[in-house]
Amino acid sequence: MLRIGVLTGGGDCPGLNAVIRSVVRTASAHYGSEVVGFRDGWRGLLEDRTTPLDIAAVDGLLTRGGTTLGSARVAPERISNELPQMKDVLATHGIDVLIPIGGEGTLTAAHLLSQAGVPVVGIPKTIDNDIDETDLTFGFDTAVSIATEMIDRLHTTAESHQRVLLVEVMGRHAGWIALHAGLASGAHLTLVPEEPFDIEDVCRLVSERFARGDSHVIGVVAEGATPRPGTMDLRDGGVDEYGHRRFTGVAQQLGAELERRTGKEVRTTVLGHVQRGGTPTSFDRVLATRFGLHATIAAHKGDHGQMVALRGTEIELVPLEKAVARLKTVTPSRLAETAAFTG
Ligand code: F6P
Repeated sequence: MLRIGVLTGGGDCPGLNAVIRSVVRTASAHYGSEVVGFRDGWRGLLEDRTTPLDIAAVDGLLTRGGTTLGSARVAPERISNELPQMKDVLATHGIDVLIPIGGEGTLTAAHLLSQAGVPVVGIPKTIDNDIDETDLTFGFDTAVSIATEMIDRLHTTAESHQRVLLVEVMGRHAGWIALHAGLASGAHLTLVPEEPFDIEDVCRLVSERFARGDSHVIGVVAEGATPRPGTMDLRDGGVDEYGHRRFTGVAQQLGAELERRTGKEVRTTVLGHVQRGGTPTSFDRVLATRFGLHATIAAHKGDHGQMVALRGTEIELVPLEKAVARLKTVTPSRLAETAAFTG
């Protein structure tokens, strides 16, 4: 029997509640272990804010979006500076193993704690699908489904008005949502952070489509898409808490430039947080449940310093150190596949 700590860090995503439920059910029903939830991610651990989690507390969570524990973004530097405080709080609650559920920032923090001697098993989550060493993260399928449905709707209104419709989807460092939603919805153009775009190529594509009699253009733009250096200026959005540079309103700025250069009517839709809200798809419920199950088994077996990962059809363990070494970005072969459907 163990006392397990759980927290959800970073931006929320559909499936977090399903993981919490899975950890609690597995720990309680199969091992007779206890689970303590830390509120609002690492902040709850730093500030000693907890909530007991038993089977009754997770009833009905499988289908609910968001996270019942709350979430917050905390910079990894704060984690490294406050490791002793965190270890004290964990000791106060008699926590044997911590299961942090999160993306790049949360898993990096989990790795730091693990290096400091805390038994940790990480669970990857993010709608962006940019965590390395796992084929997929939960939340991604839901975000792609939402984006696809929205883009399907934009096709008809774009056709009616012979317009260019640009849709900005999430994805700061990786274009997985743009790539999948673009392919699934038959977009004519997809721009991702991994391949800087040339405004002249975009204008040419738009003009050629209208010249050959096509009724409209749908372009999917990842929020992290950037122009080739020296081809178009983007408003600087500063640096985020992880030290990554941000740009703001890429699709809007691209739309204005496109309209100016081609004379075509352009409208822009920014999907934003609607991609992260609401109930998870059945795929994400299943993946989240399997991740929670295997992380809890690993916690009890003493397989610490690991992250659960989907490899093919199986859930495996990979060292946290390897998982956080780099982000998983869109590969050239996936870009080539998408290029086959551009224009
Ligand atoms: O990391 C997930 C994500 O949804 C990104 O796609 C997006 O850039 C970011 O979070 C938005 O963060 P916030 O909710 O803090 O604005």
